Amino acid sequence: MARMTLDRLLQSQGFGSRKTCRALIEAGAVKIGGEIVEDWRIEIEVEGLAFEVDGQPWTYRQHVYLALNKPAGVECSRRPTHHRGVLALLPDNFTLRNVQPVGRLDHDTTGLLLLSDDGAFIHALTHPKRHVPKTYLATTAEPVADTLIERLQSGVQLADEPAPLKAIARRRDERQVEIVLKQGKYHQVKRMLAAAGNHCVALHRTAIGGLTLGSLGLAEGEWCYLDAERLKELHAHD
Ligand code: URA
Repeated sequence: MARMTLDRLLQSQGFGSRKTCRALIEAGAVKIGGEIVEDWRIEIEVEGLAFEVDGQPWTYRQHVYLALNKPAGVECSRRPTHHRGVLALLPDNFTLRNVQPVGRLDHDTTGLLLLSDDGAFIHALTHPKRHVPKTYLATTAEPVADTLIERLQSGVQLADEPAPLKAIARRRDERQVEIVLKQGKYHQVKRMLAAAGNHCVALHRTAIGGLTLGSLGLAEGEWCYLDAERLKELHAHD
């Protein structure tokens, strides 16, 4: 059980500095149980606490785990250079509480992206030894030939890699191939397709581990919280 003063609570949830949070509270912007609370000194039990800020409902969360259906034209970087940053698609609170993408998708890749402010979670999922499989649907410039599938499955050599990289590959349509990777090298799908004799014209991530984008029902640009049950699906993939 964790208790904290109301100003600390708001700060922990990304509503700004202690000073900003105290000002919000004193201005009457914060409600708990439908009642305005103007005293930031009160100590409250925070676990599962529901509250409102400026009429918006929130629930206290020690950490947040989010899934986003990433649109094209969005960079997965905290300091985007050429396109909108992915954090611009989320409420400002998440930036203030240091939410970050879990790994990266290229600016033109769409689909499932996880974000979190839990460093241990991010590390565990992005660590090269963890091998959480990622599933992509790639649209190709040329028809998906049997030899393409065979090359991807048996391994293709990429420049700068010490050994050939393998993928699970299945033809989905004349110009669509599903690719499952256990590593996350730079531009890996696009480079593997090029090295195997085709060219990727569009790329969409459909799943991470056993968590599928389809099961979340998110429209492009939409996000949702992932609860403990959903997080388990990330490791339910074998
Ligand atoms: N592989 C790529 O080439 N791009 C991505 O965004 C993800 C995997």
